[in-house]
Amino acid sequence: MKGIILAGGSGSRLYPLTKTTSKQLLPVYDKPMIYYPLSTLMQFGIRDILIISTPDDTPNIAKLFSTGVHIGLSIQYAVQDEPKGIAQAFTIGADFIGNDDVCLILGDNIFCMGEQLNTFQDEINDNNGALIFGYHVNDPERFGVIEFDDESRVISIEEKPTKPKSNHVAVGLYCYKSDVVDKAKSLKPSARGEFEITDLNKLYLNEGRMKACFLKRGTAWLDAGTPDSLIEAGQYVQIIEKRQGLKISCIEEIAYRAGYISKSQFKSIIDSLSDGMSYKQYLQNVYEEN
Ligand code: DAU
Repeated sequence: MKGIILAGGSGSRLYPLTKTTSKQLLPVYDKPMIYYPLSTLMQFGIRDILIISTPDDTPNIAKLFSTGVHIGLSIQYAVQDEPKGIAQAFTIGADFIGNDDVCLILGDNIFCMGEQLNTFQDEINDNNGALIFGYHVNDPERFGVIEFDDESRVISIEEKPTKPKSNHVAVGLYCYKSDVVDKAKSLKPSARGEFEITDLNKLYLNEGRMKACFLKRGTAWLDAGTPDSLIEAGQYVQIIEKRQGLKISCIEEIAYRAGYISKSQFKSIIDSLSDGMSYKQYLQNVYEEN
């Protein structure tokens, strides 16, 4: 399974914060936003990852993660010249995907799913077309809205409808078989000139090859695309981390605990950081744990 993080876009809703930097590099409490979607892919066991961003921002994101080898990943980079839609990730990433299954996550989506994350692993392995993830929100008109029957079968999916048919929306996490590339190539731009992820999902729905999994109550899905949602996401992470003394989406810790890197590789990361960093101290505490 390959993973793609789509981390481009103009970030216009966060202007002027995004005038000189990528939205996905802005801080969500104690780490850059893009750490969160990367950690979700890592927790799904996905280690072969393509990050797509703008011509200006891609080099800066590459500075952050480089090849990813230090955290047991293989990270490649690709440029989206213009924000022509989420589904374009699959045409840009066509060669990277090849004949593999692929999981796409949006660079501003933050998930805290707890134990439920493990149950999704089986769903991802069984996926025979498109697997989308739903979340209950009180403002569904802002998202792709999922209508489903009593047995959680998807009936329709509509992008930002004025009259939403449910409160369940598609989060920015999608899994597909490799035929997603051909399907993405067949899409026509929408009225707003974008290759829409919802149009792509409808192709699978019409073939009866779409499934939705729903995130449980009490789990968190946050997008950090506006000033309010950015600060709320930061506050959420701060509250949980301070209370538990455990970090959310600490990619080095995840790599170590998942066995992507050895204890000595983990120690090398710690040693490369300057003394006095609280992040270093946190990693050191993880290292010294039994
Ligand atoms: O967050 C979930 C929602 O994401 C879904 O419910 C919707 O169905 C889906 O269309 C999308 O809606 P948004 O309005 O949030 O999409 P937005 O245009 O804001 O893009 C989301 C992220 O993807 C953002 O971080 C920028 C990035 N992006 C977007 C586009 C259109 C790109 O990197 N390139 C693009 O061309």
